[in-house]
Amino acid sequence: MRDYFKQYPTKDGFYKEYGGSFIPPDLQVEMDKITNAYHSISKSHNFISELRSIRKHFQGRPTPVYYCQNLSAKYGGRIYLKREDLNHSGAHKLNHCMGEALLAKYLGKKKLIAETGAGQHGVALATAAAYFGLECEIHMGEVDIAKEHPNVVRMKILGATVIPVSHGLKTLKEAVDSAFEAYLKDPVNSIYCIGSVVGPHPFPMMVRDFQRVVGIEAQDQFFEMTGENPDHVVACVGGGSNAMGMFSGFLHLDDVQLHGVEPGGISNKVGDHASTLTYGTPGMIHGFKCYTLQDEKGEPAPVYSVASGLDYPGVGPEHSMLKDLEMVNYGVANDQEAIDAFYELSRLEGIIPALESAHAVAYALKLAKENQQQSILINLSGRGDKDIDFVVEKYGLPD
Ligand SMILES: Cc1ncc(COP(=O)(O)O)c(C=O)c1O
Repeated sequence: MRDYFKQYPTKDGFYKEYGGSFIPPDLQVEMDKITNAYHSISKSHNFISELRSIRKHFQGRPTPVYYCQNLSAKYGGRIYLKREDLNHSGAHKLNHCMGEALLAKYLGKKKLIAETGAGQHGVALATAAAYFGLECEIHMGEVDIAKEHPNVVRMKILGATVIPVSHGLKTLKEAVDSAFEAYLKDPVNSIYCIGSVVGPHPFPMMVRDFQRVVGIEAQDQFFEMTGENPDHVVACVGGGSNAMGMFSGFLHLDDVQLHGVEPGGISNKVGDHASTLTYGTPGMIHGFKCYTLQDEKGEPAPVYSVASGLDYPGVGPEHSMLKDLEMVNYGVANDQEAIDAFYELSRLEGIIPALESAHAVAYALKLAKENQQQSILINLSGRGDKDIDFVVEKYGLPD
């Protein structure tokens, strides 16, 4: 296990059978340039020093690990949060955006292009673009634009151009299609800054590596607080970046059970959820191989979740491998459980979670009830300010 990170991905970007890069030759040329630049530049002393300084002085890292006294008293177990909601701009997404944008700066790029679902990656990338003085173009489905209005406004305030995507389901998958198309029009001056551990090589590796700071900090902090490792580590999985970052700090520890939580939506019928690892099969999407949800024609199936950042019919190739190797347990929390957890954490601890993160909280509360003596560390990937209007309008306030 010691050389796990040297073993995966392979030189060509494979995690066992998953990952790789299945894209047109002209795009492959650009990906190879990014891969080479990543390997040389991101390991350089100057790059590492600059990123460390940004993490400390601009992002406010390290984010704390926090013990949830009230939640633990009610549900049992000992429940802790890794507070990525306190990372600047309100979610873990800035960890990889600052890394991607710093690489763009070293490469002399002028423009950052990306997709966004919940708007959190879009806000983080717009933040990074403002920091480095770069242009920023964010593609977002019209359904998500309506749902995540506060984040759309934030992106615009930060100087980004938001491109509405009006085809298909008008959510995350279509936003990725649209952003890739825009990038292909000018790969010399622009760079695609993907929002999760998905896409063709080298994106899953790059994003994981930039997110590893979360797991490395969390393992250290938890040990310092308690003198031991947590029994369980829980993170939500959309594409899988916050989970991969968190798990990276614990994969080498045999005494820690890792749990990835997928969105169960409103039922397990096709179109009602986005539980790709739980109900999907291996296939191709957006130029890489992973577990996918597909229709009878082999096309990506429609997906749904109350959390816009989780409704993707694919998932990171590394998660696909970790599932097959049984190194991570993947489970599900549905919409209602996530909403209940959203209010529970708000009212018992004074922390409003992002709807995405609320899925991890919901799952952890079930674990806590079943494992009364054990410790559970949840990656609280983001804060819920972006979701409050939508949640109150659709579900109302509890008594
Ligand atoms: C707060 C938050 N958590 C989690 C996710 C899911 O992404 P990932 O699975 O890549 O961490 C998102 C996506 O927008 C998000 O905004």
